[in-house]
Amino acid sequence: MIIGVDYYPEHWGKEFWIPDADLMRKTGVGIVRMAEFAWSRLSPKEGVYTFEWLDEIIGIFRERGIKVILGTPTNCPPRWFCEKYPDAIPVGRDARPNPIGIRGHRCYNHPDFLRHAGDMIERMTKRYAKEKTVVAWQIDNELEANFCFCKRCTEKYRAWLKEKYGDLESINKFYGNEVWSGEYSSWEQIDPPFGTYPAAWLNPAYMLDFNRFASDDMIQYVDFQAKIIRRNCPEAKITTNVWFCENMPDFYKTFAGLDFVSFDNYPPTKIPEDAGQFYSHAFHLDLMRGIKRQGFCVMEELSGEPGCWSPMGRMPYPGMISGYSLQAFAHGADAVVHFRWRTAVSGAEMYWHGLIDHSNVPGRRFKEFEELCRVARGLKDIAGTQILSEVAILYSADNEYAFKIQPQTNGMYYLGQIRLFYEALMKYGLNIDIIGEQEELSGYKLIVAPEMYVTDPEVVKKLYAFVKKGGTLVLTNRSGVKNKYNNCIMEPLPAPYRELVGCCVLEYDPVGYDHVAVRFADGSNYRAGQWCDILKPEGEETKVLACYNSEFYKGSAAITENKYGSGTAYYIGTVGEQEMYVHLLEKILQECGIAYIEGLPDHVEITTRTGKDITARFLFNNAGEVRQFILDGKEISLQPFEMRIERSDIK
Ligand code: GLA
Ligand code: ZN
Repeated sequence: MIIGVDYYPEHWGKEFWIPDADLMRKTGVGIVRMAEFAWSRLSPKEGVYTFEWLDEIIGIFRERGIKVILGTPTNCPPRWFCEKYPDAIPVGRDARPNPIGIRGHRCYNHPDFLRHAGDMIERMTKRYAKEKTVVAWQIDNELEANFCFCKRCTEKYRAWLKEKYGDLESINKFYGNEVWSGEYSSWEQIDPPFGTYPAAWLNPAYMLDFNRFASDDMIQYVDFQAKIIRRNCPEAKITTNVWFCENMPDFYKTFAGLDFVSFDNYPPTKIPEDAGQFYSHAFHLDLMRGIKRQGFCVMEELSGEPGCWSPMGRMPYPGMISGYSLQAFAHGADAVVHFRWRTAVSGAEMYWHGLIDHSNVPGRRFKEFEELCRVARGLKDIAGTQILSEVAILYSADNEYAFKIQPQTNGMYYLGQIRLFYEALMKYGLNIDIIGEQEELSGYKLIVAPEMYVTDPEVVKKLYAFVKKGGTLVLTNRSGVKNKYNNCIMEPLPAPYRELVGCCVLEYDPVGYDHVAVRFADGSNYRAGQWCDILKPEGEETKVLACYNSEFYKGSAAITENKYGSGTAYYIGTVGEQEMYVHLLEKILQECGIAYIEGLPDHVEITTRTGKDITARFLFNNAGEVRQFILDGKEISLQPFEMRIERSDIK
């Protein structure tokens, strides 16, 4: 397993470079990411190139056996470029150009930007093509599918629609543009969503397509860069670093043409309190692993107190720096790169702390990092091992967009509901895959598919086939609501899934922050909220597992189970408290024959990585206090943020 650091040689005088690299080597740093914002230092004037400093620092790392990931510096074009091409500055929703000097100040559809960016990447990749120290390339930095609203991008958006629908009549028909006199009679009438109106005020069909376009457009830019890198450095691995941002691209499509997934992982430094917080880091990591269903890299990892985008947060508690890195390994990362080596003394980000403080005196956090490097060295043979899972949770970019466009009720959001299932499964010490809805399902015993809102007929077919062949499926409220255009399906819900789950929704109550009571047939009671589907069981073999126990629909079915083919399909019509899922999933896991661990305390995570000759079980305590429990008949005690690794080769 590799531990690395993000390093900005351009921020420090040359006198820092050798001492820094020496200390990195001594500490056990295996990889360094550099240059993703350094365009003005690589080309201070048009046609002038100054790669020598980068050659020198790469050489310093080469001599010390430290590998390098180079970022393409395209996030920040230099001032000379912006001066020459003022219309290459992206335009915001307010129809005004964004300020220069923050970052990301470039429209990636501007031909002169693409020409200059392409030239820079061409030169960099050619220069380092034979440099064995450079092992990977990061495209740009934290790209988001947030669209530029300039004329050129608007044209591109119209062209995307033209390609997809051919003519305006089809767009009018599939968007339902007769509502509010929204019919288009010329292509020029189609604009991106200007203004700061809530997305829900606009036509949801138009908005979903716009989100899809913004994602496709970003991906086209990624592919443009990847093509140049691959041509010149066919052996190098290519990635881009993503995070959970407001305008997420479709992760599955983003990485389809790249070699590995990179994720920027900044777990909050405040000690996690409820399940929604303490399992959320693990959830993000599993989602990242699921994108390509293979090992991934954390390209930026928590190193110190965060600050700068917001007032500073708490300093990392002892154990967090090391614990959260090892947690990433436990969930499938093969490399973790810490952001950043040293805290910046200038620039907007001077309070986003690195491993070493402004004082340049390595302190407590650095000591912990040294220890982490030592532990990671001992895990060499775990790299590349797999996380095998019998359970998968489905995720889809379309649903993510559609729920953001039209929030369904107070307190309800897509990732939130997915996480309720994830957290309940974590309590049973399981490896959990989170995969795209388009993925192959064979090999899993249990598929949890929360809120299958925007319907893809192929996915529906696949889920029927999965259950028919003996699989177990869990579906929830807000499934089968929309067709692929994001318009409502004119059938009783859950429309295409009705036969599969053997029930239909008679009425629904978006209860939001109010609460209702749910009573299981076994007498157990739980609190639910957000949403209540009032269900009518219809199939010959449909069983009612739980009913509402409050409101005027007291006694109506809330959760059902149906036999279909050789398998079983569950439908959960409401959003319960955490314990409800823990309770229900225990029964489901038993019926699926999935082995699980009982009695794990809150905050404790267990995952297993399996290789040809080795298995390693990771026990992690994501709490600020000691956790004690019995596992395989042995008493285990974990310190705050401690990771214990049990290897099959060491008893
Ligand atoms: C992101 C960016 C970094 C830096 C960190 C800390 O992850 O990629 O450049 O800004 O956040 O804020
Ligand atoms: Zn633009």
